[in-house]
Amino acid sequence: MINLFEEVSQFCDLSIDDKVKLPVAIVGAGGIVDGAHLPAYKKAGVEVIGIFDTDNSKAKDVASRHGISKVYSTLEELISDSSAKVVDIAVPAAAQPEIFLQVAAAKKHILAQKPLATTVEKGEELAASAAKHGIVAAVNQQLRFEEGIAAAYKMVQLGWIGKVTNFAINVNLDTPWHMWPWAKDLPRLEVMLHSIHYHDMIRWFLGNPTTVFCAAGRTAGQYPIGETRTISTYLYDGNLTATVHSNHMNRGGDNYALYRIDGDQGSIRGTFGLLYDYPDGRPDTLEVRSHVLPTDGWLPYPVTMRWFPDAFMGTIGQVFRAVAGTGPLRSSVADNVDTLKLVDALYRSMDSGAAAKF
Ligand SMILES: NC(=O)c1ccc[n+]([C@@H]2O[C@H](COP(=O)([O-])OP(=O)(O)OC[C@H]3O[C@@H](n4cnc5c(N)ncnc54)[C@H](O)[C@@H]3O)[C@@H](O)[C@H]2O)c1
Repeated sequence: MINLFEEVSQFCDLSIDDKVKLPVAIVGAGGIVDGAHLPAYKKAGVEVIGIFDTDNSKAKDVASRHGISKVYSTLEELISDSSAKVVDIAVPAAAQPEIFLQVAAAKKHILAQKPLATTVEKGEELAASAAKHGIVAAVNQQLRFEEGIAAAYKMVQLGWIGKVTNFAINVNLDTPWHMWPWAKDLPRLEVMLHSIHYHDMIRWFLGNPTTVFCAAGRTAGQYPIGETRTISTYLYDGNLTATVHSNHMNRGGDNYALYRIDGDQGSIRGTFGLLYDYPDGRPDTLEVRSHVLPTDGWLPYPVTMRWFPDAFMGTIGQVFRAVAGTGPLRSSVADNVDTLKLVDALYRSMDSGAAAKF
């Protein structure tokens, strides 16, 4: 029975062929670079040649701990380094577009953090700039490479649960918002920074919905001013639906992060281990019950890698393969414009109290 999983596990492979690897320079030396990008790059054997952060002491600290030999004093210095072929940008979204546009104009390939930008218009400008300068540009929506999710995607593609009828995500977390002081005063928080991962991922599975509704709330005593609890529903043509419930102020001490995909021939269910104790986490789980194979009840899929840091090998690896012409981008900047449109529709619904068209 384990042979059944061979094709699925091949699709989840995050290893990067040495032949396609390119030297990377990083903009931003914050928590996500320190805790996820660099550990993933070390694991995959990706060469990081230099790093820049407006906080030079932070860049020096990260560089010394991760064995990066160059700390650039300015962005211009990084851009003029001809040995940097791919620029990995990981700064807050408000600062990202300006950097993106300069790097694209220098014709260096880009991996940008999510959210790509805070407005659809900015996202479109970045996608147009990448196309104009002929660079490969992707967004670090690495949930698309997370092993459990990638395996579920392949199972759906293989028809194991038939025609999908609903995708549901339910997370209830005690999120340490103090880790992101720059996010404290953002009026648009939860959808823009966290559940954008789920919205992007559901788009990957099911495409764009026609209509969405989003309700949001806050909890007394919370650190950030923005919404910390959202409930989103999507409607598609053809009797297909999706829901995302995401709460970050769980005072019950019982964090959970569940997803479930139902089809007319079976179901897939799983957990995001990372979110049970962010950012340490625990292994994911994934199970499938298929009337097509068929399985004898719920069959566990052995997830061996984690969202953090492993999936970050996937987002950088796709850039290298796209540059070499050996593979497509799974999370391109061009595609991500539709994720920003979905986020925008959810906020329009939240603001108006009515459903919004995509
Ligand atoms: N993909 C994910 O799962 C994931 C997880 C966490 C954070 N993020 C995203 O990554 C980005 C960074 O988050 P973080 O947690 O590392 O934040 P952080 O606050 O720990 O670090 C941000 C860093 O960016 C630097 N910076 C700000 N403006 C800059 C500029 N113009 N040029 C150079 N450096 C600049 C800051 O000095 C800081 O060191 C955010 O956009 C966040 O949404 C993504």
